[in-house]
Amino acid sequence: MKTSLVACALGVGAVLAAPTKRAITDTDILQYALTLEHLENNFYSTYLGQFSQSDFAAAGFPDWVRNRIEQIAAHEAQHVALLSGALGSAATQPCSYKFPVTDVMSFVGLATVVENVGVSAYLGAAASIMDKEYVTVAGSILTTEARHQAWINSAVLKDAAWSGPEDTALDFDEVYSIASAFITGCPSSNPTLPVKAFPALTIGSDGTVTTTADTSNAYVQVIAGLTTDTFPVTNGMVQGMPQPQGISYAVLTSQQNSTLVSDDNILAGPAILHNPFVSQDSNPAPSF
Ligand SMILES: *[C@@H]1O[C@H](CO)[C@@H](O)[C@H](O)[C@H]1NC(C)=O
Repeated sequence: MKTSLVACALGVGAVLAAPTKRAITDTDILQYALTLEHLENNFYSTYLGQFSQSDFAAAGFPDWVRNRIEQIAAHEAQHVALLSGALGSAATQPCSYKFPVTDVMSFVGLATVVENVGVSAYLGAAASIMDKEYVTVAGSILTTEARHQAWINSAVLKDAAWSGPEDTALDFDEVYSIASAFITGCPSSNPTLPVKAFPALTIGSDGTVTTTADTSNAYVQVIAGLTTDTFPVTNGMVQGMPQPQGISYAVLTSQQNSTLVSDDNILAGPAILHNPFVSQDSNPAPSF
């Protein structure tokens, strides 16, 4: 199994962190969703603008790849329009962004991660939505983002279309932490959301933990679908770290009991763990 751990957390926090926490409302959730859709919309429009059909061809992709990514970009623009329409004058405006994209391959690779985080965000927010009609709207976006991710991962990259038996829900602070790594500034008129960003976390393929947070007496919680577990960190190294198939997440926490890990004891992260497995291979044995 090819293993690469993608850490998407740089310069976290300053831009998005709110000073206090309050109960999250449906308006907050729509603004939070729109924050993510603006990010996705900018991501696709920026790099489709930068990389031409011949750039895609030079990277080894047939014409239909860029053509279909244009359709994904149009979907994201439609999600922005849908949520902006629902919010009216309370609509969050786009921020400015930076993405670790240097070529067509890193654009396509990051697209799978961006779509996956979108799925995890909508899934994690679902239980907090009060108005049932919004649950349907959010669900209809969630399943579409999951199909985007599956198509990029399987048809384009020839990896598997799914990770495990369940997708992974992430909470507001976890998603915000990932998103804020890509955001360099937002209009001051944007609404302040009751969410915070944790410090960045990177976990190397050898288990090395890199973060500004204190790793003494800390654990890494791996989150893969509905399965979670914690692993102790000793001298800056995670002990017994599993490598779940596909995309999963990990946070640094002071809590050993995985059931009790929450925003109150998360110290850093999430790190995005990416263990793609090749479509044509026989099924790998689950490692978590
Ligand atoms: C973890 O926390 C849960 C919820 O409080 C509790 O039921 C469970 O017994 C704890 N597990 C351990 C190993 O302490």
